[in-house]
Amino acid sequence: MPELALLEEIVEKVRPLLGQGKVADYIPALAQVDANKLGIAVTTSDGVTIGAGDYLEPFSIQSISKVFSLTLALMLYEEDEIWSRVGKEPSGHSFNSLVQVELEKGLPRNPFINAGALVIADLLQSRLGAPKHRMLEIVRGLSENHRVGYDKVVAASEYQHSARNAAIAYLMKSFGNFNNDVNTVLHSYFHYCSLRMSCADLSRAMFYLANSGKSLAGKQLISPVQNRQLNALLATSGLYDGAGEFAYRVGMPGKSGVGGGIIAVIPGDMSVCVWSPELDANGNSLAGTAVLETLSQTLGRSIF
Ligand code: DON
Repeated sequence: MPELALLEEIVEKVRPLLGQGKVADYIPALAQVDANKLGIAVTTSDGVTIGAGDYLEPFSIQSISKVFSLTLALMLYEEDEIWSRVGKEPSGHSFNSLVQVELEKGLPRNPFINAGALVIADLLQSRLGAPKHRMLEIVRGLSENHRVGYDKVVAASEYQHSARNAAIAYLMKSFGNFNNDVNTVLHSYFHYCSLRMSCADLSRAMFYLANSGKSLAGKQLISPVQNRQLNALLATSGLYDGAGEFAYRVGMPGKSGVGGGIIAVIPGDMSVCVWSPELDANGNSLAGTAVLETLSQTLGRSIF
């Protein structure tokens, strides 16, 4: 169990790295964020959350939402129905690349690149009457914070700059791997990405990943085996092209978002969320990765 003083020390140790990365600006609403933010929250196996820095400030969770979408799909579908439509392999390409989708006949490499997440959003659209509402219900329940909500400005800004995601979805549709209306699914997908949550909210919401699929409130969301499989996919594909570097430095299954958040877990031990908006060349939080690296090294904990 890390002490609060340790988290505070790590934040101060890493703070000099601020200024070395670049805030995502391909979605104009995301570029508005204050680049100097830095926070960490840890939820331990007894359900207690501690944090340091800007850990209570909500931010745009972006692709971290892909973990919630896949979890929801695992709750709704048989395994084959999901894995016949999306793969389990690292992509080796940027998160929003079209190249592989064309070469591999509409089958995305994994559920955490945009193509894969769009297929998962398509699956949710097919089975849920009100997917945005259900997503919010799940995330509020998991974080035990009913103030968690969508950022309509970010969602609208993404929708106005959706050419690349729309192209990916239409390309998959041309191969028969997309069933619903593309704009309807994009609308849901951008809302999931626009969820605003703090490090504290996210470390609590992701507790199930460290707890064999059981939430803080004791609800078994997915089976222990599904949870282990989900963590395996996070370890291999959760940080895009930076997954190898992240495994080497941090040694935890994790998921990043272009808002600068990263969640990571040590099964049986803790769920963590860090946030700092400036990104490295792979699109992962630069200072956030350094905070996680220092934490895992100081505690001597990793899944490896
Ligand atoms: O699809 C997009 O462009 C974003 N809403 C999500 C991107 C994201 O966070 C990818 N991550 N690192």
